[in-house]
Amino acid sequence: MKNFFYPLIENPYRNKDIQEGIKILKSKRLTIGPKTDEFQRYFSKKIKSKFSLMVNSGSSANLLALQCLINPYRKKKLKPGDEVLIPSLCWSTSLWPIIQSGLKPKFVDINLETLNINLNDLKKKISKKTKAILIVHVLGNCVDMTELMHIVKRHKLILIEDTCESLGTKFKNKYLGTFGDFSSFSFYSSHQISSGEGGMICCKNNEDHEIIKSLRAHGWSRGLKNERKIASANKHLDSRFIFYNSGFNLRSTDIAASIGFSQFKDLDKFIKYRTSNRIKILRSLKNNKKIQKKITFIEANNHVKASWFGIPIILNKNINRNKFLKKIERIGVETRPIISGNFLKQPSIKKYNLLQNSRFINSDIVNKHGFFIGLPTSPISDKIIKKLVGAFEESL
Ligand SMILES: Cc1ncc(COP(=O)(O)O)c(C=O)c1O
Repeated sequence: MKNFFYPLIENPYRNKDIQEGIKILKSKRLTIGPKTDEFQRYFSKKIKSKFSLMVNSGSSANLLALQCLINPYRKKKLKPGDEVLIPSLCWSTSLWPIIQSGLKPKFVDINLETLNINLNDLKKKISKKTKAILIVHVLGNCVDMTELMHIVKRHKLILIEDTCESLGTKFKNKYLGTFGDFSSFSFYSSHQISSGEGGMICCKNNEDHEIIKSLRAHGWSRGLKNERKIASANKHLDSRFIFYNSGFNLRSTDIAASIGFSQFKDLDKFIKYRTSNRIKILRSLKNNKKIQKKITFIEANNHVKASWFGIPIILNKNINRNKFLKKIERIGVETRPIISGNFLKQPSIKKYNLLQNSRFINSDIVNKHGFFIGLPTSPISDKIIKKLVGAFEESL
């Protein structure tokens, strides 16, 4: 097949997004500022989250959520060694903030039908030490959030939703990222919208919002609701330079905010095109007799209106995935693993003694037989779909 290229990611930036960035450059006000504030407010309003703060990545959003949980200013803070449950199919920086915050991750297997956390395994793994669950909404799909919220409430757990791959997905008409105490979003270039690098953290109460705001910017008191009160309690200091908390610098810039905001305004349009492209691609692949017998597609869970950005696929066990991927990549179809496969297989897990005496059968299957292909945001032509089907046929 000549001149065929089906990328994982198309360049996501349209001229109008870049123009918004240029406006900020021309204003010479490049750091965090009014554009970030505007984007945060709009984001909260659209997804119906109480508080949203823009950060420089989805990873930073996860780090801030975990760091907020152990912060001394939090009335109900977690203690070193408290357990946080996390699916074994996760991203590196879904996991590491748990360890970096002195907490203990406990892995839970996934469900093969949805690729999301397995609620039966989750229930089995809850112990007296469990204080929080960090779930990962994989590639636009999610678990039965009603059942998950029952579990969370019954065991009085904190819920963090890693929504970095699922901006725009709704469960029973409610956006993912608005169920838990905290949620993270990523605007990296491969996701539903992009600001280059960037992300958002959402939370539900004022206490967490204020802690995260100060952690995001050096632990500064600047911009906090009780900034004046803090200043009057610290008269020996310059009121403009009071470091009220520990901190990082995880702020984004107004350049990124302007580009991300411009994209976010068209989120529904992107979802519409991707949904319709996905339907067309799946229909063609499933209608092919050779292909339909050899692969399994992941469908949206019940009550889920998914915002996909890729098409996850599981190959039958008798197919050699490496050979298949080599062939299809050579034809021009880019592929990648589903998140990072079973994260327990990564060398960093061994180095940090995080191996667990438990089996992760479904994550292992994804690790060995899963991969995903891209899903464009502009209407896909029948010609491209035909070539894509041909590439699968030839490689299987
Ligand atoms: C599930 C998940 N969480 C977190 C992240 C981190 O996001 P970022 O790349 O913006 O740091 C990613 C990145 O792809 C991800 O897939």
